[in-house]
Amino acid sequence: WNSLDDVALAGKVVLTRVDINVPMEDGKVTDTTRIDKILPTVEDIIARGGKVVLLAHFDRPKGKVVPEMSLAQVVPALEAALKRKVVFGTDCIGAPAKAAIAAAAPGDVVLLENTRFHAGEEKNDPALAADFAKLGDVYVNDAFSAAHRAHASTEGLARLLPKAAGRLMEAELKALDAALGNPARPVMAVVGGAKVSTKLELLGNLVSKVEHLVIGGGMANTFLVAQGVEVGKSLAERDMAATAREILEKAKEAGCKIYLPVDVVVAKEFKANAPSSIVVVTACPEDGMILDAGSETVARIKAAMAHCATLIWNGPLGAFELTPFDAATNATAKEAARLTAAGHLISVAGGGDTVAALNQAGAAEDFTFISTAGGAFLEWMEGKVLPGVAALSV
Ligand code: 3PG
Repeated sequence: WNSLDDVALAGKVVLTRVDINVPMEDGKVTDTTRIDKILPTVEDIIARGGKVVLLAHFDRPKGKVVPEMSLAQVVPALEAALKRKVVFGTDCIGAPAKAAIAAAAPGDVVLLENTRFHAGEEKNDPALAADFAKLGDVYVNDAFSAAHRAHASTEGLARLLPKAAGRLMEAELKALDAALGNPARPVMAVVGGAKVSTKLELLGNLVSKVEHLVIGGGMANTFLVAQGVEVGKSLAERDMAATAREILEKAKEAGCKIYLPVDVVVAKEFKANAPSSIVVVTACPEDGMILDAGSETVARIKAAMAHCATLIWNGPLGAFELTPFDAATNATAKEAARLTAAGHLISVAGGGDTVAALNQAGAAEDFTFISTAGGAFLEWMEGKVLPGVAALSV
């Protein structure tokens, strides 16, 4: 793929696909991370004499105009982050889009209305892609976190204009390549979260790519059940036990060492500060539930991590949203941050819950790279080709 450096931008209208699908409450943006991250691309295009026209989706309006999902709500946060005037186009194609582009003075940024208000977006309709292409001269995709969608603005449009990856897309692709594509070894993957069923493909892919695989969160319980360990009232997908055993078998064949909890924090209620105790993993009471990994488990993860060159992390190790069941996630995250800051580890993390957990642990800043992506990060970890990335190279 081309980077921004490879395309001429002076005097061009640059259709820039961004992901500003940001959390919002009562019409106000509550976390501007995704907006802040598009700044380098926007500034670069403007500095080189291009006019920035942002194409983006918001939420899932399913091809209809849903006023509560208008991108107009994002304009104040965008203006504050970019420190530039944002001219809003009330449609992402046709006369309203053209009028907004024409009205923008040099240095202004144009934001067009939600691409998903058109049914053709999610269908990757060539007619919609052609309507986008009519608006500009160059296509820049800076939306790695939407690159798992083959939509008109993420895939179809890339085929119609000179194209390049934006700075954020470039940074994401480089970091992910350093973590799993062509990593310094040994590699440790930490995979947590509630359910094995949502991360099957990911675990299946990882066992043949990494030397150490830590399995935590609710999904670890399913693996424990698969090994005949009683987990009481813990969250576990008992019907996935056979699949879990297959993953363990595949890991063994591939020489991937799996880390499951050896001790666990158990409580009787799924509640912050519920009375709890640490027990050896085989001693979960019948009426107890496992809410976190124990300190011996964390010590083993840390010891293994000390010998790793790369860490890739998706999913918390326990019920991190409830204190004190965030302890294993916090301690592991802090150790990863410490090793990274000391220059011993390349650490990459992604996924909404994961980033929230690392922020909560105060560890995010020291990580080598934190992806802005949720679903796209997962699909990439599953070894899938992301259509929005692939289209930049056709
Ligand atoms: C995300 O928030 O992960 C991206 O913006 C993609 O959104 P989607 O899951 O609605 O396609």
